Amino acid sequence: MKLWGGRFSGRGDPDFERFSESFSVDQRLVMYDLAVNQAYVRALGRAGVLRPAEVRKITRGLETLRHYVTHRRPWASGQPAEDVHTWVENRLERAVGVVARKLRTGRSRNDLVATAMRLYAKDAIAGLREAMTGVLAALVDQARRHSSVIMPGYTHWQPAQPILWSHYLLAYFEMFRRDRDRLEDCLRRVDELPMGAGALAGTGFAIDRENLARQLGFGRAARNSLDVTSDRDFVAELLFVCALIMAHLSRLAEDLIMFSTPALGFVELAEAYSTGSSLMPQKKNPDSLELIRGRSARVLGRLTSMLALLKGLPLAYNRDLQEDKEPLFDGVDTTRSALVIAARVLQTLHARADRMKAATSEGFLTATDIAEELVRRGMPFSEAHERVGRLVRYCAEQQRGFAQLSETEVRQFIPQWDARLREVALRPEAALRRRDVTGGTAPRQVRRQIRAAERTVAMLRSRVGHRNPV
Ligand code: ARG
Repeated sequence: MKLWGGRFSGRGDPDFERFSESFSVDQRLVMYDLAVNQAYVRALGRAGVLRPAEVRKITRGLETLRHYVTHRRPWASGQPAEDVHTWVENRLERAVGVVARKLRTGRSRNDLVATAMRLYAKDAIAGLREAMTGVLAALVDQARRHSSVIMPGYTHWQPAQPILWSHYLLAYFEMFRRDRDRLEDCLRRVDELPMGAGALAGTGFAIDRENLARQLGFGRAARNSLDVTSDRDFVAELLFVCALIMAHLSRLAEDLIMFSTPALGFVELAEAYSTGSSLMPQKKNPDSLELIRGRSARVLGRLTSMLALLKGLPLAYNRDLQEDKEPLFDGVDTTRSALVIAARVLQTLHARADRMKAATSEGFLTATDIAEELVRRGMPFSEAHERVGRLVRYCAEQQRGFAQLSETEVRQFIPQWDARLREVALRPEAALRRRDVTGGTAPRQVRRQIRAAERTVAMLRSRVGHRNPV
């Protein structure tokens, strides 16, 4: 049974019905729809629209439906409906009779679906925040376990300066921590109640929207009925945060894929998160990380579909908005599962300190430090840069490192070369210690950052996330 039959003679096109249905996707909102209905029927009672006995009857009917949905699996199979809201109203009428028809008073699916979507989004944010805490914790654990492991830092994928592996890990910690803040910030805007907005102009009955907002756990009632029935910024915004989380995960995945190639061998993935080849017996491929990287493309696509959907929509509700669900559900599911797997990959990742350290003796990582030592002795930086640059060029031509040069050879380029400068050139560990500024890679600074990160994780874990009725 449709919710809008009267105006129509009854002849439809089954192909169009299939084309327009959303039940196959929005059945996922059923518990939210029921929760909104439960609160709304009481609001109708308080407004004097329904008699107490009617409120009780409808409430009991909704309870029966909740029980049905919880215990009858699969509850939605073989039950055609235009959408989840239609399904609930039809089933309710079967359960409690015609009194069910009064539930629809003063409201529309437009404010109903927007409310259910916002409840879903609030839960989705809580779930994502929890999954993000897992990644943050795994990063700090890796960093703490290997707090003094040295490795080459790269820019442009070319060896740049020595850094700590823990410092590298904490760089991602910062990104994910900002993303987590973004989720929290997004939640503030999701947290508004659409119900009572009606189809677009506001309900014609005396619904206390502030009270209804409290009943449903919303921070406030939305201020404009046209806006809230047609606004899906919250969907676009949440998808943006998901897309950014995925972009960050994808960068991390890309790094670890490269770090795990035997030529570098900085890390080894646990077997559980790798796969073999059906042809080449020796292979151990980082498929978990490749899938994370690949799925970031998918979530980015979900965000762009959502923005394209909103562009050019006139006020207020348009049926186009039905298309918000697949992008949001899939964007959230994909991001959440990628976070969960990323946390496990990180937890089980074997860091090869020996390989990382060995790599720091190649690539002239201390070149900047030699130049800076010359600067400390009074040479202008541009001259020091030039001299060390020529020295590196000489080494590269000869295919030798700083360690393999004689004193006379080096003095052609740097006349002041002495034991101290040689020490600077050959001890990348000392280069770390010189980067002793807030945010720098000096072990002292990084240890402090690890402690701060541990406190952050402990604080996040102690905060219990918001949970809706479902
Ligand atoms: N299934 C619709 C959606 O998800 C519900 C709202 C339908 N409203 C309407 N005026 N046809 O957006």
